[in-house]
Amino acid sequence: PPLDEILNLHDFENIAKQVLPEKAWAYYSSAADDEITNRENHAAYHRIWFRPRVLRDVTNVNWSTTILGHKSSMPVYISATALGKLGHPDGEINLTRAAAKHGVIQMIPTLASCSFDEIVDAAQPGQVQFFQLYVNKDRAITKKLVQHAESRGVKGLFITVDAPQLGRREKDMRMKFEAEDPSVVSKSGSQAVDRSQGAARAISSFIDTALKWDDLPWFKSITKMPIILKGVQCWEDALQAYDSGLVAGVVLSNHGGRQLDFARSGIEVLVEVVAKLKEKRGLTFPNEKFQLFVDGGVRRATDVLKAIALGATAVGVGRPFLYSFSAYGTEGVEKAFQILHDEFEMNLRLLGARTLKDIVPEMVDASNLQSH
Ligand code: FNR
Repeated sequence: PPLDEILNLHDFENIAKQVLPEKAWAYYSSAADDEITNRENHAAYHRIWFRPRVLRDVTNVNWSTTILGHKSSMPVYISATALGKLGHPDGEINLTRAAAKHGVIQMIPTLASCSFDEIVDAAQPGQVQFFQLYVNKDRAITKKLVQHAESRGVKGLFITVDAPQLGRREKDMRMKFEAEDPSVVSKSGSQAVDRSQGAARAISSFIDTALKWDDLPWFKSITKMPIILKGVQCWEDALQAYDSGLVAGVVLSNHGGRQLDFARSGIEVLVEVVAKLKEKRGLTFPNEKFQLFVDGGVRRATDVLKAIALGATAVGVGRPFLYSFSAYGTEGVEKAFQILHDEFEMNLRLLGARTLKDIVPEMVDASNLQSH
């Protein structure tokens, strides 16, 4: 269907399912084991309801914000998703171009299909990009990647901490990842691979299973970029991250349900993290010095606004942007951003909020959020 018939982010998924090669659909859409966490990520937002305010002159509304001190046209960033060329020959560059046009921040994955430099080169002057790091067992390689990213102007280092081993994504495993496929994996990230067990396992064998809290000072010593831990799943780890004094924030994420099945949704974890960090350290959120991000299952501006109300600085979105460029290239991603912008405008008005500062905890009823 023509792009102007696309009304929401779900539509991209339905079309991607039809147009993507089977192998690409399997890699993008799959999640771990029985995919319970993947479904829960989205379902959790359905347990949060709004308490809108009325009579508040909402003629002019503005949903722009700052993420790690950088301007963003909306409280959404593009989360790192590997292997962009499975979906479209221009791969991740589709995201870069659309992000430039719409003032959105892109997180570049270690396992991008385009090379890191191609993705940075495709950015406009001043365009903000982050880097997602899978930590290589060979720390010399890791150091080189990180310092190269910093030298190319990347503004934040998101270290993925939920993937010492990749989860069992059975849909993907049923597809043999062929030796002829190296075109979709840039050499900058991958090492020797076992290609018999699906794309995910094939590309991830270099990841360091020994990564630990004690390694954080080393990361801090090799870069001035702010460090964010991606994949924190309980308040204890969020508190440890805060107490380390070495990280600028955490992403409450279960990797789009692709790692541990029955991990809770990021939005549910957000509520406990905000409560415990207030109780234990007197922190309030959103907080400039220690920023909380959430990802997983976000498909509507209302989902985003719920996370903002509960204390997140911004949310990450993964699959919808992959699906939008798989079906329509760069224009598809631009359309996805436009849809989100339109949804933000309308929903801020309907909530009685002129800016994100007006999206306070009292605007949501999350009393039924807990999964148990
Ligand atoms: C991911 N994600 C991911 N995360 C990461 O830290 N490194 C990576 O290489 C990837 N690769 C990747 C590939 C694909 C196909 C998907 C769907 C996801 C996880 C991603 O950053 C994010 O946490 C989730 O995608 C968020 O969930 P939604 O928005 O996809 O539901």
